[in-house]
Amino acid sequence: MSDVSDIAGELAQIEQDARREWDAASDNERQLVRSRYLGRKSRLNALLRGLKDLSADQRKSVGALTNQTRDRLTALFEQQTEPTETHPRAYDHTLPGRHHPRGHRHLITQTMDEVISIFYGMGFEVVDGPEIETDYYNFTALNFPPDHPARDLQDTFFINDEYLLRTHTSPVQVRVFESRRPPVRILAPGRTYRNEAINARAYCVFHQVEGFFVDRDVSFADLKGVLIAFAEEFFGSGTRLRFRPSYFPFTEPSTEVDVECLLCGGKGCTVCKNEGWLEILGAGMIDPAVFIAVDYDPEVFSGYAFGMGVERIAMLKHGIGDIRLFYENDLRFLRQF
Ligand code: DAH
Repeated sequence: MSDVSDIAGELAQIEQDARREWDAASDNERQLVRSRYLGRKSRLNALLRGLKDLSADQRKSVGALTNQTRDRLTALFEQQTEPTETHPRAYDHTLPGRHHPRGHRHLITQTMDEVISIFYGMGFEVVDGPEIETDYYNFTALNFPPDHPARDLQDTFFINDEYLLRTHTSPVQVRVFESRRPPVRILAPGRTYRNEAINARAYCVFHQVEGFFVDRDVSFADLKGVLIAFAEEFFGSGTRLRFRPSYFPFTEPSTEVDVECLLCGGKGCTVCKNEGWLEILGAGMIDPAVFIAVDYDPEVFSGYAFGMGVERIAMLKHGIGDIRLFYENDLRFLRQF
């Protein structure tokens, strides 16, 4: 066997070859490179086998050199076996995390869901109605006379002589009455439209929740009962309501219901215009004229109905001063709820 410096040169050559082949090899080929340089038939192994022919001194230094080379190659193969550029690590847990902002339901949706869940608990069933309505369902069947001011172009978005954007959710009453017999206990939430001048209190689009119950012997006391229960649940226990006499073509008697101003506790402030009370809904006992139009016998059945403004109650509950905020999609507003 040649002398120590020859062997050192050979080891250097082996290492150089191994590195070059390793770098050039694909993932699949690397397994072969590894066994070619570290396996039983490798040049390194041949050198180690030849150690026995050397003198004790030579054996010591050649053994040490060979082992060092083998260790470096082992380290090289191990380190790079882990996928690098082509297969980056799934994640680097030392990097700071990436923020994925989460959206949430719009305050109007949240409010409607809350209203629905309260009335659902009192036995109401939820139904939908169309936003594009006919004059018949929106007005005529609800006992609006032909010359009623609500039918004016200034208040209603007409599509043509027959169709319009519903101005309230009350037409759902008529649609339900036409297709079912009492008892019916229904909640109809949805979007409504009015051709109004836009300001802090009025917008061309808004939402209402209509509720109604028809059966034998339904009374005004039942209406008061559910509305008071609702107010306590939605605004907090002890919340007071005020029932004012009013007029709607489709109810008799009719009432408008105010809630004690939550911002000033009823003392009077700018939001309630020093009234101490804020209107949140219209309601009443369903007019016999409506029942006759849908073939319910008003001698047998009676019922109440109410319609509340969703934006209105959300504004009250959260102290929001301008209805337009609901429709501007300003994240600084939306994120607060
Ligand atoms: N539809 C009425 C409105 O938009 C509100 C209303 C009043 C609904 C009385 C009712 C009701 O169901 O009984 O102004």
